[in-house]
Amino acid sequence: MTRRAPCDLLVHSASEVFTAAGGPAGPLWGRDQGRTFPVRDGAVACTGGRIAAVGPTSTLRRRYAPQAEVDAAGGCVIPGLVDAHTHLCFAGDRAREFERRCLGATYQEIAAAGGGILSSVHAFRDASDRQVLAGMRALRRSALLHGTTTMEVKSGYGLSAEQEIRALDLIRRLDDRGDVVPTFLGAHAVPPEFQGRTAAYVKSVCEEMIPEVARRGLARFCDVFCEKKYFDAAQSRTILEAAKAHGLGLRIHADELSSCGGAELAADLGCASADHLLEVSEAGIREMSRAGVIAVLLPATSYFLGMRKFAPARRMIESGVPIAIATDCNPGSSMTENLQQAMAMGCVGLHLTAAEALVAATRNAAWSLGMGPEVGSLAPGMRADLVVLDVPDLRLLPYHHGVNHAAVVVHHGEVVG
Ligand code: NIG
Ligand code: FE
Repeated sequence: MTRRAPCDLLVHSASEVFTAAGGPAGPLWGRDQGRTFPVRDGAVACTGGRIAAVGPTSTLRRRYAPQAEVDAAGGCVIPGLVDAHTHLCFAGDRAREFERRCLGATYQEIAAAGGGILSSVHAFRDASDRQVLAGMRALRRSALLHGTTTMEVKSGYGLSAEQEIRALDLIRRLDDRGDVVPTFLGAHAVPPEFQGRTAAYVKSVCEEMIPEVARRGLARFCDVFCEKKYFDAAQSRTILEAAKAHGLGLRIHADELSSCGGAELAADLGCASADHLLEVSEAGIREMSRAGVIAVLLPATSYFLGMRKFAPARRMIESGVPIAIATDCNPGSSMTENLQQAMAMGCVGLHLTAAEALVAATRNAAWSLGMGPEVGSLAPGMRADLVVLDVPDLRLLPYHHGVNHAAVVVHHGEVVG
């Protein structure tokens, strides 16, 4: 009998391990959007914080002598979830505004009356670093216990050079192992000091903020809220071109509340993602497909804003646009860090299968962040981030919604919850 190799951890006896790994490198789209590449009666061996092997439990038991074991007990094992769109760096709450919306006010009406993003800008500027960091850490920890092992976090409630740098610096302090992807969102709204002077603010974003953010290496991406009354397509282009010239990757809040050419712009500039897309045009979908832009869809935002409308995900899948799902976690339009719940809403609202939603919240989300080779699927050499679900069939995850199905979360090869 051959000697068994040592490994740190063996997760075994899963009904299925949904690896989301296989086929050509990159996101999955079209008919492949729902390809999860499962291994029945599966196991995952981890060592040194990396995946050593994935295979049937009986095979890996023969090959490995683990230091520790996790019995998946017939539950599903999935890659650690990747939340590709959050605004975690905020202070305070907007529960009063939420209640007004429940009673019928719209997001735009509240913003026009001085609430909305600007009320969070005031709260962020007034809060201490400690308060902001404590809030972010609590949400990060809760997200992790719901299975989110990697997340993108945007700035965007500072809206001055000093406050945006502060936000990105706080985001950097949230992470020391490459689990948080920072995005600069200076163009989230026009701050009070620049009311009525959007062009001057765009100039400040391009000439003061972007160069400084890039010089300090504080962000991997730049994002823009391309929307009526925020930044139009021409202003968004100016900002994203400046960011590109400084070596930042690009993302865009596109066609959320109105159709403003955001998807077309994303395709033209080669954005890594275009996000929201409720009002995307047919031409926009075609362009995104041609340019390989990933659609990051945020069904929890549709729900939270009471919109009764979701992005046309099936049209995008038919046209070959890869779909990702994220929470959009923020105090105004989506106050949840639970990506499982966003997946469930994606099944109902975006008309996805559980398998399509899983690929959307793992592999495709990772590729949208440029992290596809590292996280988002389970294959040898990748980061040992995985979730043991308490359900034997993946379809039970969106079906039995509103609860946490993560029985065990493994992060960098360590059991965290
Ligand atoms: O993605 N749309 C712009 N930004 C956020 C909302 C932020 C806020 O309301 O504070 C979003 O929905
Ligand atoms: Fe957002």
